[in-house]
Amino acid sequence: MTFTRRQFLQSAAALTVLPHQVRASGSDLIAQTAMQQIAPDGFPQTPVWSYGGGVPGGEIRLHQGARVQRTLVNELPQPTTVHWHGIRIDNAMDGVPGLTQEVVAPGERFDYDFVVPDAGTYWYHAHNRSVEQVARGLYGPLIVEEASGPDVDQDLTLMLDDWRLDPDTGHIVEDFDNSHDQSHAGRLGNLISVNGQFDPVFPVRRHDRLRLRLINASNARIYDLALDGVAGWIVALDGMPLEIPLEVEDGFPLAPAQRADLIVDVTAEPDTVAGVISRERDGGFGLVRFPVSGTSATTARSGVALLPPNPLPQVVLNDAPLHRMTLQGGAMRWLESAQLGGAQLSGRELAQLGRFWALNGYAERPQDPFLDAQRGTVHRIEFVNETSFPHAMHLHGHHFRLILPDGNLGPWRDTVLVERGQTREIALVADNPGDWLLHCHMLGHAASGMMSWFRVT
Ligand code: C2O
Ligand code: CU
Repeated sequence: MTFTRRQFLQSAAALTVLPHQVRASGSDLIAQTAMQQIAPDGFPQTPVWSYGGGVPGGEIRLHQGARVQRTLVNELPQPTTVHWHGIRIDNAMDGVPGLTQEVVAPGERFDYDFVVPDAGTYWYHAHNRSVEQVARGLYGPLIVEEASGPDVDQDLTLMLDDWRLDPDTGHIVEDFDNSHDQSHAGRLGNLISVNGQFDPVFPVRRHDRLRLRLINASNARIYDLALDGVAGWIVALDGMPLEIPLEVEDGFPLAPAQRADLIVDVTAEPDTVAGVISRERDGGFGLVRFPVSGTSATTARSGVALLPPNPLPQVVLNDAPLHRMTLQGGAMRWLESAQLGGAQLSGRELAQLGRFWALNGYAERPQDPFLDAQRGTVHRIEFVNETSFPHAMHLHGHHFRLILPDGNLGPWRDTVLVERGQTREIALVADNPGDWLLHCHMLGHAASGMMSWFRVT
């Protein structure tokens, strides 16, 4: 039997080690510098750090249960890692330097390889010096499609970020460790982008049904969003379908790292402009525009179908232990003292070291886990915010259920906004073995003390 050269190459390829083929087939995730028009036209371009040459990094879109294989190639001048936010992932793939992997030095690579158990809207971002690296643009969407998704005319991923740019040069202001930001509300910007662009435009028709996947990739900004000329429901939060869709009547908040999936219908008349607006300033301002041209053949739909549920564990509270995590420090409630590097330091000493916050008395990720859970056990965590600022508390590797003030179980989330002075309770089934971070997703807060972890064995 003779082989043609082509057949030979094919059979030889089948025998070689898989990662090489994967690399050759374009599954590198290259962390690299790039130039991008973030500010409106007429302003200079911005030097960014990106995955693959643009911000956001390319949308990774795949089916529920599929396998993600990406080789991070670090072409940046700083060590980095990738965290797959909201994915109930294998611990070794979670991307946390010093906890689940070593940093990937400039010039080096790391193979990420994992399965996505849940459908929904997720994202990936740098997790080393994230206060700087995410602010420079190291993030992208990770969309996991339902086996049979809702019937929509357009499925739009809208990734929100706010940038602190120098309007004269277009450059990012490089004061990432600014102590005023870190001890207050975090790094807030002066320009909001959607998908790395100022005020992007998506043409629609009247009566079109849109799925909007909103992702907040900002370092610290909490959006107060509202709809204009479109109407509908929030159908999922942080990737997980709601049991009852929430009709959007007014505004809704989106804290750093949070996602909201909406199903909306275009109600605006042809030749007008609909959109999503931010209400945080008087009168609000548009974040994205939907110019309406014509009317779709479909007549206005009524009601919305539920998204199929994800394979989440059942939360049975019974006598699940309650663990308290106290959020401490920051401007106006300065730390008196906290643990750092095995010593009890005064608030003044901590501030000199750039530490302004603490979780249960630790101004860094402590040696021992906050919670050491047996696999499969249920735990309640009470976040007690004693500070004068809101915080977006995020758990790795698990989603949790909010416990509503009446004691009932609320939506599944991976990031919960705890307003100042507020206490919020959550419940989780510790079913994913490994060492998992628990931190504030205002990235300057995380960098200056709001960092803890839990272990599941
Ligand atoms: Cu999206 Cu530890 O974070
Ligand atoms: Cu915070």
